[in-house]
Amino acid sequence: MTPIYQTSTYVQKSPGDHKGYEYSRTHNPTRTQLQNALAALENGKHGLCFASGMAAVDAIIKILKPGDEVISTNDLYGGSYRIFTKIFQNYGIKFHFTNMGNLANVEELVNDKTKMIWVETPTNPLLNIIDIKGCAAIAKKHNILLVADNTFATPYLQTPLDLGADIVMHSLTKYMGGHSDVVMGAIIVNDDDLHQQLSFIQNSCGGTPGPQDCFLVLRGLKTLHLRMERHCQNGRQVAEFLRNHPKVEKVYWPGFEDHNNHEVAREQMRDFGGMVSFDLKSNKAEDVISVLENFKFFALAESLGGVESLCGHPATMTHASIPPAERIKAGLSDSLIRLSVGVEDAEDLLGDLEQALA
Ligand SMILES: Cc1ncc(COP(=O)(O)O)c(C=O)c1O
Repeated sequence: MTPIYQTSTYVQKSPGDHKGYEYSRTHNPTRTQLQNALAALENGKHGLCFASGMAAVDAIIKILKPGDEVISTNDLYGGSYRIFTKIFQNYGIKFHFTNMGNLANVEELVNDKTKMIWVETPTNPLLNIIDIKGCAAIAKKHNILLVADNTFATPYLQTPLDLGADIVMHSLTKYMGGHSDVVMGAIIVNDDDLHQQLSFIQNSCGGTPGPQDCFLVLRGLKTLHLRMERHCQNGRQVAEFLRNHPKVEKVYWPGFEDHNNHEVAREQMRDFGGMVSFDLKSNKAEDVISVLENFKFFALAESLGGVESLCGHPATMTHASIPPAERIKAGLSDSLIRLSVGVEDAEDLLGDLEQALA
């Protein structure tokens, strides 16, 4: 097994004469192994790891300059929305948010200053599907970088670099780590120049992970395919159960034929994943809270992608940083419940849903 190189520095034979490692912010052998494994999984040439998914987002936006513009989706993960609008907007970068399910909306926003298209698919928490190949065609036509946040799908379900993306980004905290015991992020690219720019930012800004955490993610990756298969099977059962439940208004899961862009999901994904969101028929706050408090197997917690099932209330938890009016406009209601369906026995999960809804 890859050793955990728990060291900050490396002995040199003579000044500058070292064995490839000088200082662990720059390089660490455990991290190198993980970076290589991530590049292999995404069919990319280079991988880079960061101390969190947000540190990876931060590094990518630092490629840009004041005056540059970015187009992204209007139901983006709340933390990405926050760093874009509350941090980088102050540095002169402009962000546009639109419904990217319809590519005409993307093309309409492109101008001379557009330098990046930022895709998250499936989106968090409405599981909207964005056509990566279609976005890549727009990006190539206008010489724009295409970034894909592949956190929800993982390379087991979708490999954006193969579909024309320039940069893949991950919160490894989720399915890739898979056990809710580590916070980490990653970037994967093919282009050598882009890799050089991003590794310069990684080393200069210093948002790098420690070797123990890299070891944990390496271990998680070994079962990614097994876990994802089970997440997908359980996700399907939960989605179908909820869709037939009298107290449920709407279920968001890309595997339904009437889900927006279902055909695109079929085309670009191997299966539909383990994330399922749903709206209750009742939008009384006390009813939503009661369901969330009464789950026994679904633990009420932020995050997703671990082997154990979690439930959350995006309006007050993961997406609280999005202004209510914009949140509602994007279809993210106060009664929306998000489930990260784990790998437990499906009957236990369905039983838990039944009793919590009752
Ligand atoms: C889609 C998506 N991108 C990025 C992030 C941020 O990652 P991290 O929490 O590891 O910083 C998250 C976290 O929930 C996420 O769901």
